Amino acid sequence: MNQRRPLQRRPLARRVLAVAVSAATVAVSLPAVSAAPAGCDPAVPDTCTLRELADRLGIRIGAAHGPDELAIPSNADTLAREFNSLTPDNAMKMYATQPTQGAWDWAVADETVEFAVAHGMEVRGHTLVWAQDTYTPQWVLDITDPAEMRAVLDEHITTTIARYKDRVHRWDVINEPLDYTNIDGGLSDNVFSRVLGPGWMAEVFAMAHAADPTAELWVNEWGTDYLPGRHDALVALVGSLRDAGVPVHGVGIQTHRFFGGPDGPDEGAFEQMLRDYTDLGVDVAITELDIPIDPADPDGLTRQADAYRRIVSACVRVERCREITTWGITDAFTWLDSFVVPVLGPLPTPTRPLLFDENGQPKPAYFAVRDVLAAASRPASLQTTTTAPDRAVVPAVAVATNPRFTG
Ligand code: XIL
Repeated sequence: MNQRRPLQRRPLARRVLAVAVSAATVAVSLPAVSAAPAGCDPAVPDTCTLRELADRLGIRIGAAHGPDELAIPSNADTLAREFNSLTPDNAMKMYATQPTQGAWDWAVADETVEFAVAHGMEVRGHTLVWAQDTYTPQWVLDITDPAEMRAVLDEHITTTIARYKDRVHRWDVINEPLDYTNIDGGLSDNVFSRVLGPGWMAEVFAMAHAADPTAELWVNEWGTDYLPGRHDALVALVGSLRDAGVPVHGVGIQTHRFFGGPDGPDEGAFEQMLRDYTDLGVDVAITELDIPIDPADPDGLTRQADAYRRIVSACVRVERCREITTWGITDAFTWLDSFVVPVLGPLPTPTRPLLFDENGQPKPAYFAVRDVLAAASRPASLQTTTTAPDRAVVPAVAVATNPRFTG
């Protein structure tokens, strides 16, 4: 009962606009962006961008972007001014880069990386393997021979990491390892687990580690912030991987708030949840934050701002919470407007889940995040780094043997 759609269809008007914008900018590789305001004083938050405040705290503030969004000058401007990290929403997924075997397509992924480099931003590589059959290309789903599967995964991972090795230092190695249909947790049944057996995740992490021993390797999951069974399952999985010596360095909490919405989460409980991961010795990040609101709710924007405030406050208090990334830039383009949520069905639209409104203007949620970052302090030792030299010491164990993992 996987209700998600592999490829999002945008409304016709938006697609036409996107094509027009792409055509108009075809001769210009990168849109010009305005400089950030000078003289950020955190005591006067109005003088600061999110990016300036995040840089000061040594935390990443990021946004995901769709394929046509970088070509929209106002979006490019907002991204470069307000964010220090960028995640491509779909362009680095296997179905995008290798839709059929060996037919690599890097066009959109390259745009992301080039934009980020041009504007001094980092990139979150998302994602090397998505542990859900719905998002795995058919040619991979057809593989039944373990040796062939290993060779395909190794080539995919090694080629992708090698292409961006000097510019991308963080990878979501495995996306959504938990059973998508089980709100209580449990591991996903997918073509990789079926063909390679329960040690498949350890194998995949070992391949990524071999491809770049200094890269941060992450696992990323949805629903754990709202569904306790999924949180417990992810803690157990990451603990098992670590116990088995698997080089996993961080846990991404997607934090799509389509469950719980603007009334959640409880700030203290959310902070403790983040600490449950850092207690395992790994970093944690909020990787896909969006908080939809009901268009009929007159207080929606205020409640949304408060939810953003709680989530960001919790993250900045946890030293190993390294990143807060929103899943989109402005409310004009959000996957939630067409997403069919498990159990709930479609959300009332427009969902308006992001920090900037449909015209690119900052919302109450933006100011809430900015005020939290402005008021926060973190130890000076917490600098954002673009390399992870200490990571190389993590042993690259090939196959997990821990019974909690294999059982
Ligand atoms: C979503 C994209 O935003 C959509 O355009 C696409 O149709 C489906 O995937 N969890 C993830 C992201 O890890 O990659 C998903 O992105 C949203 C849920």
